[in-house]
Amino acid sequence: MYRVLYRKWRPQTFADVVGQEHITSTLAHEVESGKVSHAYLFTGSRGTGKTTCAKILAKAANCLNPVDGNPCNECAVCKGLDDGSILDVVEIDAASNNSVENIRDLRDEVNYTPVHTKYRVYIIDEVHMLSIGAFNALLKTLEEPPAHVKFILATTEVHKLPATILSRCQRFDFHRITPENITSRLMYVAAEENIKVDEDAALLIARIADGAMRDALSILDRCSGISDHVTSDVVSNAAGLAGKDYLFEFADNISQNNPSEVLSLISKLHGDSCDMERLCSELINHFRNIMIIKTVRNPQQLIVCTDIDLELYKKQAEKTTLFKILYYITTLEECATLLKNSTNKRTQMEMCAVKLCIPDISGDISAIMARVERLESALKDGKVTVSAPVEKQEAPAVREKPEVKAESEPEERPAPPPPPPTPAQQTVVSADEDVLFTGWGEVLEKLNVTDKPLLGILGVSSAYIRGEFLLIKCDNPIFSQFIRQDNHAKAIKIAVYEVTGKKYRLGIYKSEEGNTKTNDPLADLVNKINNL
Ligand SMILES: Nc1ncnc2c1ncn2[C@@H]1O[C@H](COP(=O)(O)OP(=O)(O)OP(=O)(O)O)[C@@H](O)[C@H]1O
Ligand SMILES: [Mg+2]
Ligand SMILES: [Zn+2]
Repeated sequence: MYRVLYRKWRPQTFADVVGQEHITSTLAHEVESGKVSHAYLFTGSRGTGKTTCAKILAKAANCLNPVDGNPCNECAVCKGLDDGSILDVVEIDAASNNSVENIRDLRDEVNYTPVHTKYRVYIIDEVHMLSIGAFNALLKTLEEPPAHVKFILATTEVHKLPATILSRCQRFDFHRITPENITSRLMYVAAEENIKVDEDAALLIARIADGAMRDALSILDRCSGISDHVTSDVVSNAAGLAGKDYLFEFADNISQNNPSEVLSLISKLHGDSCDMERLCSELINHFRNIMIIKTVRNPQQLIVCTDIDLELYKKQAEKTTLFKILYYITTLEECATLLKNSTNKRTQMEMCAVKLCIPDISGDISAIMARVERLESALKDGKVTVSAPVEKQEAPAVREKPEVKAESEPEERPAPPPPPPTPAQQTVVSADEDVLFTGWGEVLEKLNVTDKPLLGILGVSSAYIRGEFLLIKCDNPIFSQFIRQDNHAKAIKIAVYEVTGKKYRLGIYKSEEGNTKTNDPLADLVNKINNL
């Protein structure tokens, strides 16, 4: 009878367990020195070896001839436990035995001494599923079990366990297994099974498995069923990575603000029975990949895709900004939540698509930043021009001055001559020497990573350059308090330095009272565009 690979290749000794050396070495040492605890808790994500290690530990603790703390797998006890003729290792699935009665039965049972072994071991899997009453019924036994009883609790959701349980167990946290470790285990299993697998295909499987060895072996199983030679193409087909062109089409049309195309794409996918919740989560993953490409130097390690798709992602990443991506993901996340309870999922998805294509209708901060960026790039490309406000020439006395600085007061110094505009700044020059700083959007993008609270305060803001000063214009009254704090001022300075390559001193750009006519070309622009 065919046994699936992950069951057939369950490690039989601690030495076979991959990527959990911090746990297996301790457990083997405890067995070897005869110091096996009365209660263990194994936690960590799925398919990382919790049940496997629980079984090995139960066997090793009872083995007649343990080898360096590992079960020998040869003696009568090891063999009896493996073939089920010895019943002193009891596996309980807490998901289906979660009531107080189940635990009461267990409490009665622990009083009987084991028949063939030194210890009766209870492995309680998915222990977080026990009811509150069941947990309470377990406490006393867990604290002071009879000398012949050991407990091993296992769960993926340790945060759901009461503190009273946690404090009675020796806890081990299983890590996600690295792609390298998964790859070499896959290559080993494939060789033993005579399955021909390319190394890059194994690595792709490892990345799809996201740290879970069980998933990796399952995918290998599926791939070897499809083809004698497992290549990365076979893997992408078997794992459903291929054929995602519609996501790229979706993303292209969204960034080109093309709602009609996006709506007809939804209509087509809906007609093909595509589930809207799945579409939404695929789109979130798609934009997440672009976000990673825009922020990380070696994105390949964090993205699961084929090499061809990676290039396509890079192209899309070049064409968009981080703020837009953040807006897309936020909007799609909201939609994913709404979709769960929606009676008309298609309409919900369509509404989301319209929002994605037209950020202007959203009050979300990232949407506003996306608008500002659009305006800035229109300015840069010369698609929109701004003339200096006429009032300014008539009344030069109302010139604005920097008010609060993070460092010394610029008013004390003679006003420096206006700097020659750099390519990034020369797009808009107002009538006086203040130059609109067009790299501000980029600075805010960096602050979104380095100083989120400050970014929240900055909201809709702009900045001007006056000589060696960068003057920030922000209507939020709390801003002046924030900028006085060293860490926030420093975050801005670093971001500005990274964008301009120059060190500026900071100041606040403050409007004269009553001077409602704006001196902010960007604000003028926003008005202008809004009035179109
Ligand atoms: N660390 C590992 N080394 C080698 N193989 C592993 C490892 N972890 C898991 N496996 C493989 O995956 C299968 C399932 O592992 P196991 O049952 O131990 O996972 P688990 O952590 O208990 O997962 P779950 O939380 O889903 O119960 C094993 O039979 C084995 O083939
Ligand atoms: Mg398990
Ligand atoms: Zn043995």
